Amino acid sequence: MKQIFMAGPWITEHEIKVVEDAMRNGWYENAYYYVETFQKEFAKYHNRKYGIMTPNCTTAIHLLLTAMGIKDGDEVIVPECTWIATAAPITYLRATPVFCDIEPDSWCLDPKSVEKSITSKTKAIIVVDLYGNMPLMDELIDISKKYNIPLVEDSAEALGSSYKGVKAGKFGIGSVFSFHRTKTITTGEGGMLLLDDDKLYERCMFLRDHGRVKGIPYYNSEVTYKYMPFNVQAALGYAQFQRLDELVAKKREIFKMYKERLSDIEDLQFNAEPEYVFNSVWATGLVFGKSHHMTKKNAMKQNEEMGLPTRPFFYPLSSLPAYPGCEEKYKNKNLIAYDISSRGINLPCALNLTDDQIDAICNGIRKILSR
Ligand SMILES: Cc1ncc(COP(=O)(O)O)c(C=O)c1O
Repeated sequence: MKQIFMAGPWITEHEIKVVEDAMRNGWYENAYYYVETFQKEFAKYHNRKYGIMTPNCTTAIHLLLTAMGIKDGDEVIVPECTWIATAAPITYLRATPVFCDIEPDSWCLDPKSVEKSITSKTKAIIVVDLYGNMPLMDELIDISKKYNIPLVEDSAEALGSSYKGVKAGKFGIGSVFSFHRTKTITTGEGGMLLLDDDKLYERCMFLRDHGRVKGIPYYNSEVTYKYMPFNVQAALGYAQFQRLDELVAKKREIFKMYKERLSDIEDLQFNAEPEYVFNSVWATGLVFGKSHHMTKKNAMKQNEEMGLPTRPFFYPLSSLPAYPGCEEKYKNKNLIAYDISSRGINLPCALNLTDDQIDAICNGIRKILSR
C-alpha cells in the first residue's frame, strides 16, 4: 500500500492549465488578473462585499485585527482548541488572548464560556469553525450584539460549510480562510480575508502594502506590512475554487467512509452534523468515549507503530509552552476543552486517500480498541 498522508491536495490538469496561463500571460497589464478574479468570485460565493487575498491566513487575521485597532492591553477571546494561528496575531499586537471553553458537540467556542469571560478590555471575539464544524452562531452573534464586541470568524478549516443556510465565512465583521497545502483548496501558502464594511476594507488595503498613499508613488504615511498576493498563486487558488464542489464531496466521502466503517463500535464521537449544519469536514476528528479509556497520546503511538498516521486533536492553547503560566489559570475553567482534547485524534484527510487506505486506518482503530 502506498504511503498514507495526513493531508494534501487534489490537483488536476485544470489547475495546471490555469497556472500555465498565469505564467505565460499574467504579467504587465494582467499582473493582478487572477488575484482580482479570485478575490471577487470568492467574496461573491460567500455573499461578502470584499475579498482580500493574503500570503496566508495568519497574515489575514493579523491584518484584520490591526485594522480593527486591537492594541496593547486589549483582550481578544479565542477558543481553547484551535491552531495557534488563530491566536498568535493577538500577541503580535501585544494584546492578550483570553481562552474560552469549547462545547462538547461541535468542539467550537462555547457561548456561555464567552459571556463569562467578557471584561471591559474585551475588544473582539474570534470564533473558529473547527475541522469544518460550525459553532453555535446564533448565540455567539447575540453575545456580540449584547456587549457590542465585534465577532471575527476564522473559517480556515470550513470552506464549503454552512450554518442555517449561511456560508461559513459570512459571520461577523470579517472572516478568514487558509489555502495552506493541507487545506480543502490550496495555493501552497495563501489566505483570504472577507469583509463587508467599506472603511475596514480601505484600511486593510492600506495596511497590506506598506501604508502607501493612493496616487502618490513611493509615498508612505505609516509604517505597515507587506502582505501582498501573487498572481500565479491566485491562479491556482481560483482554479481550485472552481472545483470546490468536487473537493468538498471528496472530503465528505472520506468522512462518511470512516463513520460507516467504524459504526459498529460504540462510544465514538465524530464531527457534528446537526440538521442545520452542512459540514465540509476539512478533517475527520475522532474522540474516544470515556468507556474506551484511550488517550490521544496512546492512540497515536499505537497507530504509529502500525505505520498509520494520525494527529492529536488540537491541544488547549493554554496548555502549550507558547503560553507560559496559562495552564494553571485555565485548566480548571475550560474543562470540556481539556477533556475532549485528551481523548481526540484527527484521522488522515488527504484528498488522495484510497478506499484501501481508509480500510487500513479503520482496521487500525478497531485493533487498538480491542487490545
Ligand atoms: C483554524 C485555523 N486558523 C488559521 C490557520 C492559519 O492558516 P495559514 O497556515 O494559512 O496561516 C489555520 C491553518 O493552518 C487553521 O487551521
